Amino acid sequence: MKRAIIALSAIGIFIAGTSFAVDHSQMHEMMMKKGGPKPDDRIELKLPETMKVMQKGMMRQHLNTVSDITAALAANDLTKAAAIAKDNLGWNQAEEQRCNMVSEMTGEKDFLTYGMAVHKTADELSASAAAGNRDKALEQLSKLIKNCNACHEKFRH
Ligand code: HEC
Repeated sequence: MKRAIIALSAIGIFIAGTSFAVDHSQMHEMMMKKGGPKPDDRIELKLPETMKVMQKGMMRQHLNTVSDITAALAANDLTKAAAIAKDNLGWNQAEEQRCNMVSEMTGEKDFLTYGMAVHKTADELSASAAAGNRDKALEQLSKLIKNCNACHEKFRH
């Protein structure tokens, strides 16, 4: 019995090892197709670990907000889309303080610039939705997402 268990776990290790080898070579092939491994040359935001955790939590909330805005626009509930965009992503004093604090702590002025671009686009989106212009609001939603990514392309934790 004991021997059988040992044999079984040996097979398990063997299988696990093999599947890893396959994944690894597939991963290697995929990376080579993308032009080979590259260094992550984005600017590191030097923040305390606890702030990074908090910031990433806020980021996941932002992604949820983007989903909620999309759903409201899809349901043609423009009043709701306008309210979500303004209340959860709009530019206000609290957002300004938060973005500015990160800029000050890291010495990266652009953090505030990129942050402001996102929040102000959310305000534009909100105004278009409130005015009943869903097409314009969708265009601004696309611009908003590109603005999110502009910061991700520049900075990392
Ligand atoms: C001013 C800069 C900036 C802007 C603007 C920004 N982000 Fe981020 N975001 C970051 C940084 C920095 C990280 C952490 C990256 C890392 O882990 O290296 C991040 C990470 C994330 C993550 C990953 C969170 C996790 O759990 O790891 C998500 C999701 C995200 N952002 C969504 C968004 C969305 C959606 C928007 C726009 C509505 C947005 N971000 C706008 C800077 C920004």
